[in-house]
Order: sequence, then structure tokens, then C-alpha cells
Amino acid sequence: MPEVTDKFIIDGLGGQQTLSGEIVVGGAKNAALKILASVVLFQDGFMTSNVPEIEDVFRMLDLLVNLGVKVNKKDKGVYQLDASAISNKPLWSEIAKRMRASIVLTGPLLARFGEISFPYPGGCVIGKRPVDLFLSGFEKMGATITETEGVFWVKAPREGLWGAEIFFKNQSVTATETFLMTAVLAKGKTVLKNCALEPEVASLGEFLNECGAKISGLGTSTITIEGNGLLTGGRHEYKTIPDRIEAGSFIILGALAASDLKVVGCEPKHLDALINLLRESGVSLEVGENFVRVGSSKKKYQAVDVKTHEYPGFPTDLQAPLAIFLSQANGESFIFETIFEGRLNYLEALSRMGLEAKNLDTHRAIIYGPRKLEGKEIESPDLRAGLAYVLAAIVASGRSVVHNVKYIDRGYEKIEERFQKIGIKIERIK
Ligand code: UD1
Repeated sequence: MPEVTDKFIIDGLGGQQTLSGEIVVGGAKNAALKILASVVLFQDGFMTSNVPEIEDVFRMLDLLVNLGVKVNKKDKGVYQLDASAISNKPLWSEIAKRMRASIVLTGPLLARFGEISFPYPGGCVIGKRPVDLFLSGFEKMGATITETEGVFWVKAPREGLWGAEIFFKNQSVTATETFLMTAVLAKGKTVLKNCALEPEVASLGEFLNECGAKISGLGTSTITIEGNGLLTGGRHEYKTIPDRIEAGSFIILGALAASDLKVVGCEPKHLDALINLLRESGVSLEVGENFVRVGSSKKKYQAVDVKTHEYPGFPTDLQAPLAIFLSQANGESFIFETIFEGRLNYLEALSRMGLEAKNLDTHRAIIYGPRKLEGKEIESPDLRAGLAYVLAAIVASGRSVVHNVKYIDRGYEKIEERFQKIGIKIERIK
């Protein structure tokens, strides 16, 4: 485990566009975590590959091991999971509090064992992250809920959870995934409405169908699940889909600082919103079946407005990295963060590096460009903003120190080694 004190020392390029080569996109954090959690639905288990070796994955594996799941690491990013001896225990508070994604375990455990207790889940410091959709969904499926001192106690009816019609008042990725899984073990039919359309949701559902689930409507906003009992993995293997947020961050890096960067092993069709926005700004991109190539351009990039939105709209997780790009474009760009309140707080620290932004309120900001950035000592506040700080340090002139690398490690595997290979002077100090 990396030390909590790890920091990155980065010598910036001072605005030059010199990076070149290939950078490979890893498996998607937000797909891998849910697939790992889904083992709770299995009478046996399954093999999963292309799992990113990141802190959030290690924590999810710890949670599963604590529940009695056998985890056998076969190779780098390849795990054989076996849930045949799983038993129910309260979710391990310390991990669950720190990792929001742990909430996806609650529904499957409730459906399998009839009761579950879990602490209010944690995650990034990006504003309110409520759990009302989870609680009301459990109640619709017949469960009763009590809360004592920040811990929820949820109990299913004696005959087990029943299928229900659940309308999500907000499109939520983890709520959609949780009830998609929970309904597999409920009695009868569940209809989920206003579901999240993120590719990770459909990818999870498709894998569960391969293993015996009866889920229809994947990739649409209405998903129907016929409860059909425990799943059988047998020889099925899930290969984690490419991380579209990592790919997007690398493409933004290329537009900022590369003479010729090929982002390989990605799924460009999951990146339409970013690709179109960058093109609108004047970035020239070559888009292949599983790569995006981006290089320096003679003309200045133009300011563009961005509004984060549920998929297929512009992902909130790319909002902070994009802000660094906008700080180098000509003119005023307007950012409207519609998903998370407070997800623009990271801008303040960047002003010390020379980025000029005006926070209009907790959801909206203006970025003024182009501005020359200067290396500084800066503390990463969360996963995605942390990566944005690294991008800012790469663009800046002089040396930067980015503290709190533990946040970046939650979602990006050995980022410094991959960045060194394309010409970035970045070093990890333990
Ligand atoms: C997931 C992703 C995260 C991404 C986010 C939005 C994982 C592990 N994380 O987070 O990287 O930034 O989707 O694309 O997959 N909401 C409620 N009530 C609830 C739950 C959510 O109102 O009970 C609201 C949230 O406040 C937010 C919106 O729904 O405004 C979307 O949040 P959600 O999709 O749940 O985010 P996560 O699933 O936590």
C-alpha cells in the first residue's frame, strides 16, 4: 500500500507540446468494482481480468474477503473469485466509510441473507452524496429500515425481498447497479425506471445475463429483471471494459502537452461528449476503433462551454481535467456542473498556479484563458481533481509538488510510471 504521505514531484513543460508515444488505458474502475461486488449473487464464482490495480479495487477485495469470498489472484489484474462460503457480516466500517462504491454490496447482501447493516458511505469530497434512492428502493422491495448513530439496519421480509417497480428520481449509477443486482435474487419481476445509462451499467448486466440472470432493457432507461435465484459463473470470465475517464484524461493531456500521443486500448464510442467538445475547441483528433490520437496544433484552442450530464452527456468525472484544458484556450469558458454540488471547489487552489477562474456558485464557474501556469506546491483534494492538478503541473513552468497522491492512487494505476514513458518528468516521493 502506498504511504499516505506520497507526493509527486513534477517538472512542468512550460506550455510546450513535446510528449509523444503511446499510453495504454486500463480497465474501468467503475466497472471492475461492481463486477467484484456482484460475486455476492453467485453460488460459485467467476474469473475477472483487466482489473485495474488501484486502491479502490484492493479495498473492495478486502471487503469481499471479510465476507468469506475466496479471492485468488492468478496474474496481474486477473482474479478468480469464489463466493460458495460467503457469510453475512456488517460491512467493514472503516473501508465502507471511505469508499462510496461499497454501497453496491448492500443490496446483493440484503437479498442473499435477509439483512444488512452499513455505515453512511464515503468517497470523494465532492459535495452531498445521499443514499435516499437506496433506502426507498429497499423499502419498495419490502425491507424495513432503522438508523442508529450513522449506521443503517435493513431487514428483508421473512419470505425474502420481492420484485417492485422503482422509479429513480435522479439517474444514479450506483443505485441503478445496486437494484439491478438486488432484483436478481428477489422474488418476481422488478422494473427500474429512469436508470443511469453509463456503459458500466450495461456491461455489468450483460455479464450477469451470461451467468443466468434475466435482465432486459440494458442500455435503456427502463430495465426489467426477473428474479431467478443464485447465478452460476462456471467458466465465465468478465474482461473489464476500458476506463473511459482515464482515456478521456489522457486525451486532454495530449491536447495540452503532446506533439503526438496515441491513447490506445480505449473505447472511443464511450467518449463522444469529450471528443466533440475538444473538436469544437479546435483540437484535431484521429479516432480509430480502439485508439484516439492527438497532437500539437498550430492554431490556438478556443474557449468552449461545458455542462456535465449523465451519460452520454459530458462526464462529471472529466470536468476537473477539462478545466485545465480550458485555462489554455482562448477566451472565457463556462462550466456548469449539474451532478455534484461543490465539485468546483478544487479551482481555488489552482489560482495559486495562475489559473484564473470565477466561481459563480456551487455549480457554475467561468475559466479565463489562456493563462500561463506556474509550478507550485499543491494538495490533491480528491481523485479526479487530483489528476487535474497533475495535468496543471505538467503544463506549468517550473517544479510542482502534488501532495495527497493517495487520492490519485484510488483510481489511476501507477500513473507516474505511465506518464514517465511518454516524456513527463514525474517522480513519486514516499
Ligand atoms: C458514480 C461514479 C462516479 C461518478 C458518478 C456520476 C462509481 C463508483 N462512481 O458515482 O465516479 O462521478 O457516478 O457519474 O461508479 N443521488 C441521490 N440519491 C442517492 C444517490 C445519488 O440523489 O441515493 C444523486 C447524487 O447526489 C448525484 C446523482 O444522484 O446528484 C448521481 O450520483 P450517482 O450516479 O449515484 O453517483 P455515484 O453512483 O456515487
